[in-house]
Amino acid sequence: MMGTNKNIFASKVGAILAAAGSAVGLGNVWRFPTEVGSNGGAAFILIYVLFMLVLGVPIMVTEFAIGRYGGSDVTDAFQKMGGGCRGWKWMGLVPVVSGFLILSYYAVVAGWTLYYAYEALIGGFSGKTPEAFTNDFVAFSSDSLQPVFWMALIIAMTCGIVALGVQKGIERGAKIMMPLLFIFILVLVGCSLTLPNASLGLKFLFQPDFSKVTSSVILSAMGQAFFSLSVGLGCLCTYACYFRKDIDLMKDGLSVASIDTLVALFSGLIIFPAVYSIPGLQPDAGPSLVFITLPNVFQQVFGDIPWLAYLFSLIFYLLLVMAALTSSISMLEMSAAYFNKNLRMSRPMAAVVVSLVCLVLGTFCSLSFGDWKDVTLFDMGFFDLFDFLVAKLIMPIGGMLMCIFLGWVVDEKVLCAELTNNGTIRSPLYPTYRFIIRYLAPLCIFLIFANELGLFG
Ligand code: PFF
Repeated sequence: MMGTNKNIFASKVGAILAAAGSAVGLGNVWRFPTEVGSNGGAAFILIYVLFMLVLGVPIMVTEFAIGRYGGSDVTDAFQKMGGGCRGWKWMGLVPVVSGFLILSYYAVVAGWTLYYAYEALIGGFSGKTPEAFTNDFVAFSSDSLQPVFWMALIIAMTCGIVALGVQKGIERGAKIMMPLLFIFILVLVGCSLTLPNASLGLKFLFQPDFSKVTSSVILSAMGQAFFSLSVGLGCLCTYACYFRKDIDLMKDGLSVASIDTLVALFSGLIIFPAVYSIPGLQPDAGPSLVFITLPNVFQQVFGDIPWLAYLFSLIFYLLLVMAALTSSISMLEMSAAYFNKNLRMSRPMAAVVVSLVCLVLGTFCSLSFGDWKDVTLFDMGFFDLFDFLVAKLIMPIGGMLMCIFLGWVVDEKVLCAELTNNGTIRSPLYPTYRFIIRYLAPLCIFLIFANELGLFG
C-alpha cells in the first residue's frame, strides 16, 4: 500500500527532494563553476542550459519511467520494460557498475569538502596568506593519508544513511538537508552580491562571448548537463523504483531540473562575484577554485570583520558537504540496492560491502594527486580516468541507449500509460518528449561524439 511500504518514498515532496538531492551536488557547486571558468563563461552556460532542456530533462523522465514501471530494482525494471526479455536485464547492470565508479572518485572531493568544513569550524583559515592557501591545499590533496581519512568519513556517513533504508535514511536525509542547503545558498548569494566589483562576476556569468565556443566546449557542456542532473547512469532509475504511482513524472522531472539549474546558477552568483572582488584573481583556476581561490577571497574581503569571514567560510563548506552527501547517497544506493535485492544481502550489509569497495577504489583516485601521480592509463591518473569514463562516456552513451530503448523498443502504449499514470493525468508535452527521445536526443549525442572523434574532419 502507498506510503506504508518501507521501500517507497512516503510522500511526493520526499521523492522530489531525494531526486533533487541526487542532482544537486558537487556538480553544481564545484564542477559547474570550474567548467564555466575554464570554458569561457556565459556562452558555456547558455549551451549547458540548452542541453539541460533538450537532453537532460527528457532523459531524466525516461529514467523515471523505466524505474517506476519496473518497481522492484533497476535490473528488473529494464527487463520488465523490455517486455520480459531477460537480455534487457543486463542493461540494468550499467547503473550497478557505474555506482562504484562514480562514488569512488566523487568521495575524494567530498572528503576534501569535509576537511575544509572542519578547518573552517576550528577557525583554521584565519590570518592565512594567499600563498599558504595554495601550499596547504597542494600538501593536503597530495598527502597519502589525510584525504583518504576524510574520504572514508564521507563514505561512512553515506553508508549509514543508505543502511537506514529508503524512508528513514534517503528520504529523511533529503528532507533535512535540502531545505538547509537552499537557505545557506540564499544567504551566501546575498553576501556575495554586495562585494566590490560583483558586477564583473555577473558580466562573466551572463554576457556570452561565442568566439570562445569550440567543439570541446560543447562536449563539456553536454557532460556537465548530464553530470549535474545525474542522468545517463541509471541513478534516477534506481530512485524511481521507489516512486509512488500517483507522481506526475514529467512535471516532477521539470521541477528537479529547475531546482538543479537554479542551484548551479546561484553557485555561480556566489563564486564569481567573490573571485572578481579581488583584483588579479582569475575565474579559470580550475578544480582548485573552490579550495584555494575562495577561502583566500573570504579571508581577504571580510578580513576587517573576522567573524563574518569565519561564518561565510563555514556556511560555504557545510553547504558543499551537504550537497555532496545527498548525491553520494544516491550513488551508493545504485549498487547497494542491487546487492540487497539480488544477492540476498541485508540492506546494511549491502551498503557496507559497496562502501568498502569504493573506499579501496577511492584510495587509488586520491593517491593520483600525490604518490601515484605518474601512474597513468590513456595518459590519465585514476581520478581523471574515472571522471572521463563517467561524465564523458558512460553518461552520454547510457542516456542515448536509454532513449533508443524507450523510444524504439518499448511498446508505446506502455510508455504513454506510465507517463500519464494510466490516463489519469494529462501530459501535453508527451508528443514533444517522444520526438526528442526517438530522434533528437540520440542524433544530438551521436553528432557531438562524432565531431569530437574528428569524423567531420
Ligand atoms: N548530480 C550530482 C552532482 O551534481 O554532484 C552527481 C551525480 C550523482 C552524478 C549521481 C551521477 C549520479 F548518478
